Amino acid sequence: MSTSRLSLFFFYAILIILVNPTINAQRDPYVLHECSTTGNVTSNGTLRENLNTLISTLSSNTQIDYGFYNFTAGEGTNRVYATGLCRADLSPTDCRSCVNMSAHELLQLCPTQKEGVMWYMNCAARYSNNSIFGVMETKPTRALTSDNVTNLAEFNAVLEPLFYDLRVRASAGAIFRKIAVGTAYYKSDNYTIYGLMQCSPDLLEMDCSNCLVVAQNYIQGCCSGNSGLTILAPSCNLSIETDQFYDSTLVQSPPSLSPPSPLPPPPTKGTFPKRTSSELFFYISIISYTLDNY
Ligand SMILES: *[C@@H]1O[C@H](CO)[C@@H](O)[C@H](O)[C@H]1NC(C)=O
Ligand SMILES: *[C@@H]1O[C@H](CO)[C@@H](O)[C@H](O)[C@H]1NC(C)=O
Ligand SMILES: *[C@@H]1O[C@H](CO)[C@@H](O)[C@H](O)[C@H]1NC(C)=O
Ligand SMILES: *[C@@H]1O[C@H](CO)[C@@H](O)[C@H](O)[C@H]1NC(C)=O
Ligand SMILES: *[C@@H]1O[C@H](CO)[C@@H](O)[C@H](O)[C@H]1NC(C)=O
Ligand SMILES: *[C@@H]1O[C@H](CO)[C@@H](O)[C@H](O)[C@H]1NC(C)=O
Ligand SMILES: *[C@@H]1O[C@H](CO)[C@@H](O)[C@H](O)[C@H]1NC(C)=O
Ligand SMILES: *[C@@H]1O[C@H](CO)[C@@H](O)[C@H](O)[C@H]1NC(C)=O
Repeated sequence: MSTSRLSLFFFYAILIILVNPTINAQRDPYVLHECSTTGNVTSNGTLRENLNTLISTLSSNTQIDYGFYNFTAGEGTNRVYATGLCRADLSPTDCRSCVNMSAHELLQLCPTQKEGVMWYMNCAARYSNNSIFGVMETKPTRALTSDNVTNLAEFNAVLEPLFYDLRVRASAGAIFRKIAVGTAYYKSDNYTIYGLMQCSPDLLEMDCSNCLVVAQNYIQGCCSGNSGLTILAPSCNLSIETDQFYDSTLVQSPPSLSPPSPLPPPPTKGTFPKRTSSELFFYISIISYTLDNY
């Protein structure tokens, strides 16, 4: 590796740290919501009361700081379940605030329904009268789309290994952290594709992988060839964008296509991953991987 390339790597590494977006949950843009039509209740019934109690406690637990909230309340047919999930790059404080807001908004948007899901940009909230912990759910599936690329064949050929790599790494993610990010270079329009896949961390590896396959297959029917797209399902989601839309702290392990490197120690429960010098190395190896493909 030449000195000039090395310094270029450091330049990029520093740049990535400088442009590291600060996520403000107070201004989290609303994305989408869905209320189930399978069952309705009266807004003053016991189930609804249990739900209101549940939602108000969902984010009050400050012991939980790994970005996933999971609670249940009530008995028998009035038992309700709720989960809150943040993108793994959110701080515990922002996550709590985001889950709290999305859950409260969800209850307002689905006033009489037994099930609902709300996707914000940075977190998602879900409730149901059925147990949802560890249960893979792909319906409803929704897509956010953008403009078409110029060379569909090349784009899809580039996306396929990227999606495969993301799916394998997200599914294999340690408990509480089923998320993977990665890049691929798309030559025809000369840019880097940034990808992210995430599953609810309570899923088994195989359920996570299956959910992501469903999300990936959904693209054919909605938005194949879109340069930016997001597929949202209750248990998993997938996004690609033309710019780095995720926090650099998520860039932990290099794409599997580059030589194996030692992984940083998995985040222990109670601490969010912090930027370390070993992570700096990972940024560099990712950038080097990307540049080598130019
Ligand atoms: C949840 O509500 C649906 C629709 O009313 C019902 O079919 C289902 O049995 C309920 N689940 C439980 C666990 O009571
Ligand atoms: C629940 O209410 C919605 C509209 O409020 C309606 O479309 C739906 O059919 C109802 N579902 C049942 C099972 O009654
Ligand atoms: C709920 O509201 C309905 C009509 O608004 C009313 O008839 C019913 O008595 C109320 N139930 C309870 C438990 O307050
Ligand atoms: C989530 O809830 C389920 C069932 O309610 C429970 O068995 C499980 O231990 C909970 N997990 C976490 C991480 O809170
Ligand atoms: C959660 O959100 C509700 C409604 O927006 C708000 O009234 C409440 O203070 C919030 N709670 C916490 C713990 O932030
Ligand atoms: C799905 O994406 C939304 C929006 O980016 C995110 O807030 C949520 O946590 C994700 N949910 C899952 C299950 O990956
Ligand atoms: C993208 O291409 C599809 C299929 O050719 C077309 O239906 C759609 O309108 C295009 N979308 C945009 C935003 O150009
Ligand atoms: C590709 O884009 C980069 C900047 O993003 C530019 O420097 C380079 O010249 C472009 N290459 C081609 C072949 O257009």
